[in-house]
Amino acid sequence: MSTPSTRPARKAVIPVAGMGTRFLPATKAVPKELLPVVDRPALQYIVEEAARAGLPEVLMVTGRGKASIEDYFDRTPELEAALEKKGDQSRLDAVHESSDVAQVHFVRQGEAKGLGHAVLQAAAFVGDEPFAVLLGDDIIDARDHLLEQMLAVQAEHGGSVIALLDVGRENIDKYGAVAVEPTADGGDVVAVTGLVEKPPVDEAPSSLAIIGRYVLAPEIFEVLRKTAPGRGGEIQLTDALATLVERGEPVHGVVFGGRRYDTGDKLDYLKAVIRLAAERDDLGPALRGWLRDFVTELPAEGASSS
Ligand code: G1P
Repeated sequence: MSTPSTRPARKAVIPVAGMGTRFLPATKAVPKELLPVVDRPALQYIVEEAARAGLPEVLMVTGRGKASIEDYFDRTPELEAALEKKGDQSRLDAVHESSDVAQVHFVRQGEAKGLGHAVLQAAAFVGDEPFAVLLGDDIIDARDHLLEQMLAVQAEHGGSVIALLDVGRENIDKYGAVAVEPTADGGDVVAVTGLVEKPPVDEAPSSLAIIGRYVLAPEIFEVLRKTAPGRGGEIQLTDALATLVERGEPVHGVVFGGRRYDTGDKLDYLKAVIRLAAERDDLGPALRGWLRDFVTELPAEGASSS
């Protein structure tokens, strides 16, 4: 069993090579990670979350058709010069947000062989330290400090930590599912005793699903190298974590009770845009007023709209 690492996690890995089929046709030419949530790409929220949690070094694992993600996080001297000339400071600040938030690096996955394979591409960048993995489809509300809590659990116990959410049994087959036991920490920190990727509903160990935040021990790389393709013929991160559990390495879960927006799902994406815009100081007052009127005028479900 490994002892808690004295080195805190400093690096974050964000896999962005996925094809985004759920948002076709929009994602034919625009990476799903750049679809706007209000006025910023979904990915900007993820990078800001990593930076807020004290992880300023970010590696994106990209693939074909994702070059615009590199452009997005790059400087744009011509645009900046034009805005400066106009004296448009607020837009200039917005442009800087994307390039200043973190030190962003890129590596290409080459072949799309699964999440475990994507994470493996980060081995040289990460080295021998614990690190975080953030999946782009899940936006965690900035007021809920999930990643910070996971990093604290990792610093205390060592090993790896995954974020969990009770999605109900009927939805568990869309996620990695886990078996857990309570810990002395109590409350929302649990010990993970087993993991299985997207099990049939009646075989799931619980209704607790892995959501897209992980803090991983560097031993995961050596395990991933030996992990055979699993569900869907892909190298699964869930399977590598299951191996760590079987070996007796500590894997903890933090059961999340806060606000999560799944921007990979069309309905959830719409809800995320409306909620986040309704809470903003600039757009909120007008949007909330309009929403109230809109809702009163909505015909009841099943009624004719004509
Ligand atoms: C991946 C993981 C899965 C996890 C999910 C969270 O699946 O393999 O274990 O529950 O992310 O979003 P994907 O959604 O990429 O199929």
